[in-house]
Amino acid sequence: MREGRRPDGANYYPAFPYPSFTRIADADLRDLWAYLRSLPPSSQASQPHDLWFIFRWRLLLWPWKWLFFTSGPFQPDAKASAALNRGAYLAQALGHCGECHTPRNFLGGAKQSRFLAGGKLPDGAQASNLTPTRLKKWGDKDLVDFLTTGLTPDGDVVAETMGEVITNTTGKLTPQDLAALIAYLRSLPAFRASGRADPAVAALRARARGRPRDRRRSGAGHAGTRVVEAASVSPRHRPARLAVHGHAQRPCQSRASQARHRPAR
Ligand code: HEC
Repeated sequence: MREGRRPDGANYYPAFPYPSFTRIADADLRDLWAYLRSLPPSSQASQPHDLWFIFRWRLLLWPWKWLFFTSGPFQPDAKASAALNRGAYLAQALGHCGECHTPRNFLGGAKQSRFLAGGKLPDGAQASNLTPTRLKKWGDKDLVDFLTTGLTPDGDVVAETMGEVITNTTGKLTPQDLAALIAYLRSLPAFRASGRADPAVAALRARARGRPRDRRRSGAGHAGTRVVEAASVSPRHRPARLAVHGHAQRPCQSRASQARHRPAR
């Protein structure tokens, strides 16, 4: 869990979300292990791998890890409140929200500078932007309802992948932990789904640096810029087949459930 390595020393594929699980505190790892050992044995065989071709060679995981993996438990931010640190720990370590909700580069490495700004799953499903850019439209109660029932404020039912996260993870949080998680999401920098900071924030930053806002973003040039930007979005957001959480690839995703994934937003 900490190093992403098997007992025999070989690297795990990051379809196992150890880049997040490495942040789990020692005490929680011990408790998890004690719980797993209390489960009745199962004779179910492990499923064969279904990975992006390049990752069929485990040796390539060495450079991948060198580039994209930093081991070590979560470090609380001394300037943030206990609740915010708790929320950050839940999102970054145990809840591993970033494995799906953070965009990835073409090698499948998470773009940590755009943490939770919205990702794409191997099946093409969009994992929404969780930064205030999108979630500011949701009240705290909307988020609590969604993370416990899977119902969105406009009465939509969540698609299967996030539905599993709700059933197994967020729906089981204590009210305090749920509030901490939500407070943490609210504290994130506001990124647009494409990964750029919210234009309002960018404008403030530019003003703080004492220069006018980038002219391409205003007036007549705007539409053209948007077209160019739109055209350049998809290659950068190519889904990295390997590096997303395994349960997105499980056969239990029925056609009907995939059809429920809403289009990109
Ligand atoms: C296995 C991948 C995966 C993980 C892990 C995951 N999510 Fe999601 N999440 C999704 C997908 C896919 C959607 C889009 C679902 C839909 O459109 O119905 C989603 C949607 C959401 C939404 C709805 C946002 C909106 O604007 O519609 C919220 C809120 C959310 N997730 C929060 C979280 C939090 C918090 C965590 C961590 C505790 C988390 N998710 C972990 C895949 C994931």
